[in-house]
Amino acid sequence: MSHVDLRCIKPDCQTNYPTSARLYTCERCGGLLDVVYPVGGPTGEALTAVWDRRRGTAAALDQSGVWRFRELLPEATEAEVVTLAEGNTPLFDAPRSAAYAGMDRLAFKHLGMNPTGSFKDLGMTTGITQARRLGATRVACASTGNTSASVAAYAARAGMRAFVFVPAGQVALGKLSQALDYGATVLQLSGDFDDAMGLVREVTHDSDLYLLNSINPFRLEGQKTMAFELLQQRRWQVPDRVVIPGGNLGNSSAIAKGFQELVERGVIARLPKLTVVQAEGANPFYRLWRDQAAALEPLLGPRTLASAIKIGNPVSWPKAARGLRWSGGGVEQVSEAEIADAKAIIGRDGLGCEPASAVTLAGIKNMVAGGRARADENVVAVLTGHVLKDPDYTVSYHQGTLGQGGAPGAETHIEPRYPNRIIRVAAERGAILGALEL
Ligand code: F0G
Repeated sequence: MSHVDLRCIKPDCQTNYPTSARLYTCERCGGLLDVVYPVGGPTGEALTAVWDRRRGTAAALDQSGVWRFRELLPEATEAEVVTLAEGNTPLFDAPRSAAYAGMDRLAFKHLGMNPTGSFKDLGMTTGITQARRLGATRVACASTGNTSASVAAYAARAGMRAFVFVPAGQVALGKLSQALDYGATVLQLSGDFDDAMGLVREVTHDSDLYLLNSINPFRLEGQKTMAFELLQQRRWQVPDRVVIPGGNLGNSSAIAKGFQELVERGVIARLPKLTVVQAEGANPFYRLWRDQAAALEPLLGPRTLASAIKIGNPVSWPKAARGLRWSGGGVEQVSEAEIADAKAIIGRDGLGCEPASAVTLAGIKNMVAGGRARADENVVAVLTGHVLKDPDYTVSYHQGTLGQGGAPGAETHIEPRYPNRIIRVAAERGAILGALEL
């Protein structure tokens, strides 16, 4: 795709920059940047026919559930693309979760089935590819864990060095272990994610390190293909609603942009309503939307056991708010106990997910109960991370010890409604038969 530009999203600025500029925000006003595409090129069924045909080919770029949609991605040659065959994630029917939420049916798009176990891979293939195009050899990010795992893996594939800034003691072990194994340099900092984010922005501004947080617009270009792939799996039929967890708000921004571009290119007639769900203790975007505030008020000291979304000062909030206006959506908040129980129910559907992903089901349940969603709506919830990312949380929940011991975000312990306790039994036949109630 030629003549792709970067453009400031502020309506009264809209300054354009070439994609060869190493920029994360607008030089004139500090606003966030979009990647924008020229009008022209295939539209409607001509576009979807190309994309559908690629699903069956053996070409490396077509095997990626991101690069398959390259008509709406920044330009890159095949040699420049760094891919781990990301995307291609399943869309599951989830009858137990649907019943739990009071819905007739419910589907999960499970982005935890990506190569490093989270949706970040969709944006990292485009982000690292852009890093390579710009000649970067060292990349960096701040992270609650998943971004660092994904940066580390894609940087390793590209032969680059990765530096990841993580808040000490606040990253789930599955994620930390990945960053180490993929060879990233892990810097553990005191403070929380928002502090680490501020520091990595300063350091990347002053050095040759290329920043790969979602403030980087090339990240969001890959992440928007979630919308394309979801619709492709649904034969281009738009659901009524898509429900997404909200942390730094890059993903909700990206998904909204993806749907909006398909409307502009005549593929679909309307966006689904987008619902962003936050944890009660880390809910700055919920507050903004509830109060219809002009600007986001950062929340100091966010608290939640869903460590992936423990964020008080989300960078991409203006883009996420724009996406909600495009789609007529809204924001929900859920409690720690609601997140924990919803996660156990998603497990019972045989799917599982990490805690941050479970806010979706908890949010849908509250919406149905409160009359903000109908039981017969066609809803797709986005599961953002794999169940193995945070095994400590899962085991604690099922043993009834979640939140004990002053864990950040919930000093009081959460009583599980769906526990599956480990049974201790003597290693002896009679005792085992007794335990099995045979
Ligand atoms: N779900 C998971 C599993 C995440 O890891 C994140 C964010 C989110 C949801 C929220 O997405 O930030 O785009 O609104 N994780 C980032 C990280 C912050 O560093 O891995 P968002």
